[in-house]
Amino acid sequence: MLNIIICGAPGCGKGTQSDLIVEKYKLKHLSTGDLLRKEIANKSELGQVAESFISKGNLVPDEMIINILAKNIEAFGNDINGIILDGFPRTLAQAEVLETMMSKNSKEINVLVDLSVKKEELIDRLLKRGQTSGRSDDNMETITKRLEVYEKQTAPVSKFYQNLDKYAAINGMGSIDEIFGRISTVLDSKL
Ligand code: AP5
Ligand code: MG
Repeated sequence: MLNIIICGAPGCGKGTQSDLIVEKYKLKHLSTGDLLRKEIANKSELGQVAESFISKGNLVPDEMIINILAKNIEAFGNDINGIILDGFPRTLAQAEVLETMMSKNSKEINVLVDLSVKKEELIDRLLKRGQTSGRSDDNMETITKRLEVYEKQTAPVSKFYQNLDKYAAINGMGSIDEIFGRISTVLDSKL
């Protein structure tokens, strides 16, 4: 089983690379951002609460995210090759809950793949996507906030996995295929 986390600043390519990883390694993809946007599109109560955080560039409260995550992981069942977590864990508290959840089920995270991309490139990518995405957080003001929140609250998660010796830093600059090649080298070494 290959259970991985894909992590990095907003716009670093988590979603783009997850699609390629899922296809090659036959993993289940779980993006907390995508799940929240589905709730928003369905106008559920949870979606409305989430949108009030997302549109300002803040994180949604841990408790809300952990409930969604647990429900969705359970729904995958046991007959799977593994999971790719995209956009989770995003706080140390989430990382600790995830580790407890995995060990309770005698499973483990094999590696956290950390995509690093220059700030100017992140902003370029997100503003470009904002022209068509319809996402309430793809505008300059919210992007600035998302980048700050990432540094303060999410970057410590990388340290957490570095300390567990389950960490791979990947250069996230270049073509989508080049970056996927770099990630594949790391994942192949974990199989
Ligand atoms: P989330 O949906 O996770 O957004 P994000 O982390 O801000 O990242 P994005 O999805 O914007 O970017 P990405 O890294 O996936 O890049 P992508 O492949 O799309 O979270 C959104 C919000 O939900 C959070 O702010 C928070 O409020 C809430 N949330 C989610 N999870 C949470 C959690 N666990 N706890 C609390 N709150 C949570 O690429 C970006 C663009 O660049 C695309 O247009 C793509 O086509 C393009 N691109 C990709 N690769 C390249 C390349 N190599 N060269 C050029 N362009 C590229
Ligand atoms: Mg994404």
